[in-house]
Parts: sequence; structure tokens; C-alpha cells
Amino acid sequence: MKPVGPIPAGYDAIGGELAISGHRASELVEQAGRTPLFVYSKSLVEQRIARLRSAMPDRIRLNYAIKANSYAPLLDFVADLVDGLDIASGGELEMVQAIGVSGERVSFAGPGKRDEELEAAISGGVTLNLESENEARRALAIGEKLGMTPRLAIRVNPDFELKGSGMKMGGGAKPFGVDADRVPTLIGEIMAAGCEFRGLHIFTGSQALNAEFVVETQANTLDLADRIASEAGTALPKLNMGGGFGIAYFHGDEPLDLELVGDSLGKRLENLSDMLIEAELFIELGRYIVGEAGVYLTRIVDRKESHGETYLVTDGGLHHQLAASGNFGTVVRRNYPLAIASRFDAEPEEVANVVGCLCTPLDRLADKAHLPRAEVGDLVAVFCAGAYGASASPSAFLGQGPAAEMLV
Ligand SMILES: Cc1ncc(COP(=O)(O)O)c(C=O)c1O
Repeated sequence: MKPVGPIPAGYDAIGGELAISGHRASELVEQAGRTPLFVYSKSLVEQRIARLRSAMPDRIRLNYAIKANSYAPLLDFVADLVDGLDIASGGELEMVQAIGVSGERVSFAGPGKRDEELEAAISGGVTLNLESENEARRALAIGEKLGMTPRLAIRVNPDFELKGSGMKMGGGAKPFGVDADRVPTLIGEIMAAGCEFRGLHIFTGSQALNAEFVVETQANTLDLADRIASEAGTALPKLNMGGGFGIAYFHGDEPLDLELVGDSLGKRLENLSDMLIEAELFIELGRYIVGEAGVYLTRIVDRKESHGETYLVTDGGLHHQLAASGNFGTVVRRNYPLAIASRFDAEPEEVANVVGCLCTPLDRLADKAHLPRAEVGDLVAVFCAGAYGASASPSAFLGQGPAAEMLV
């Protein structure tokens, strides 16, 4: 038997079934007309943002990294609750423009921005987080061609990483950002060229659960920003300090101690130098805002035995849930939180493997999980599905197509 991850708070049973925002899973599937279905809870997103606001110092602004989940109704809902949106492509730019978010509130990071993307971002008044000197020159040339002043920030490749993070995006050679020691010179160059300088972006990693590591990284980030600004001889108008706040996906994961992060940051902010004292300070988060607010519902279409093991075969799988299948940056596959949604309050009575409908051994939703006995027609719920589910899975694989999505 292998344990499943912890089911996030905020999910109850109604009439024996899993309920999301007070609606029974079967009711939601009926409304959507099909499975697989992602359901995102407005109230859980709202509660999460309120908790962030109360734990973080007042001066910290909150950006949502839309790569975590860009489902338009959810994006529209979150956009009204946060201070800004971070995008990573021209496609994401179109998404935020489609819901009417002003370019002033948007910043665009990511290596390999094409000329068309730079042009669309500059025309839309979006801040470009520059990933290289070359990108800076291209952005300046495009600004000149358009007769517009580009809003430019520099993404720094710091010489430290976010310890304990699932994905490290700083420390040593990286395709992201400009190496810290070259940033002061680049600041001088882009300011001399007449851009609107929008400060620095320092993103060191993602999915960190250890608050002490987050605290240490935030302190390092502020120190580095201070050093760079002093060397460049210019106070920073803005600093995006990254984020990396993780959520508990697996058995034994302890939730991030958000209050410790907020309190420590508050203390550190009491000692800001002149270089940072006026800066607008941002954190940018994706999964922490939406991850636990989403559930993936898939229906069991077959129940079979093989060499003494039970397989519950669903109509979903890795084409919507690459991360839960263990194929999105995981070294050792472990079970996400998962339950039989239609028997949510039933006691476990068998050990079963839950798999998807793709013809590949990679397509696993749970290995040897202890579950209530489930039959064909029952619904399975995969939790922590609000981030990097629909937006980060290969839905075209085997011609399966995307899952339905719903915000309730
Ligand atoms: C630049 C940047 N910002 C934000 C994020 C969002 O990370 P998370 O969803 O873990 O908060 C990422 C993730 O890789 C990133 O690369």
C-alpha cells in the first residue's frame, strides 16, 4: 500500500459525496455534461488570497503567475483580487488582454521572447522582465520603431537558490535572467537609452514548503537587489521578489508556515536601505493561490484485476494531470491526494491502482492506494488540481482533447 497525499482543507461530504463549494460532485458533472472535469472553487481561492493578505506585510503586493491556471473565468476572478499578473508568453498576454486587464498591471518574464511578443507587450504597456542583454537591445529597438517608451525591468539570475524548492531557477548557470554581476551595467544602458525603468525581478524557485528557506531567500533577494541598485547608483522603483510558496501534495508534506514567512519579512522590511525604501515590492505566486482550490473529476470506466492487483481505469489521465501522474519534474513518483468522490465518506476497504485511459504505463493517478471499493461509474477526485493541471498537461496526446473546466 502507498499513502495518498493530504486532502486540502475546505472539502466536505454532502449525501456521502465530495462537495466543492457546496455542490455535490455528481451535480457538477451533470452540469458540465461530461467527465473529465476540472472544478475550481471561488471561495477557496478567495480564502487563500485573504490569508496571504493578512499574513504578509501590508506593503507587499501580490501578483498571480497565470501559468498555473489561465482558465478565463478563473483568471478574471483572480485578476480582481490581486495587484498584478505575471505572464510568460504572447499567448498569455492575449489571455490577460481578453479579460481587459491593463498593461500597467502585467509583467512578462520568460526566455526566448520573439520580436512579435516584445512588440505586443511594449504596445500594450506591459513591463518586460528582460532575460538577457540581447533581449534588452531588441526591446529598445522595437520601442524606437514603435515610437513608444518600453517599460523594462531586469530579471536577475541570482547567485543563490531557493533551498528545498521543487524547481530551482537561480544559482549558477541558468537560461533565466542576467547574471547578477552584469545587471548594474545593463541598468545603466537601458536607462541611458530612455526606457521607463521598472526595477528588478528575482525569481529563485518554486514549490518550497520550508518557511525558513523562503525567509532566507527573501532576505538574500532584498540584499542582492540593494547591492545591484547601489552599484548602478539608482534607487529601485519596483522589486519583484519572486515567490515559490509550495503546497502539500504528498503524504508527510507539512504546509508552509505562512505566518513565519510574513512576520520575518515584516521585520526585514523595517531595515530597508535608501535604494529600496520607495520600491513597490511584489511577490508572485501561482500554485499557492489556485492549486488547492481545484479538483479533477474523472469517471471509472473499467475495473479489472491483473496478477492479483485491482485496476480502476478512468476516462482521465496524464493528458490533463501530468503532474499527478508523476511526469512533471518529479524524481520519485508519489501519490497525489485522491479519493473516490462518489463515496467520499466511505471507509477504505481495498488497495487499488487508479490509472488513466492512455495506452502508456506512465498514465497513473494512484499506485496501490487504500480506497473504498469503487465500481464502474464512480467518480474519482484528484485534489491539488488547480495549478499546472489543464495548463501544463499534453491534452492533445492520443487525440483525447482537453477536459471540461468550471468555476463554482
Ligand atoms: C518566473 C516564474 N514566476 C512564477 C512562477 C510560478 O511558480 P508557482 O506556481 O510555484 O508559484 C514560476 C514557475 O515556474 C516562474 O518561473
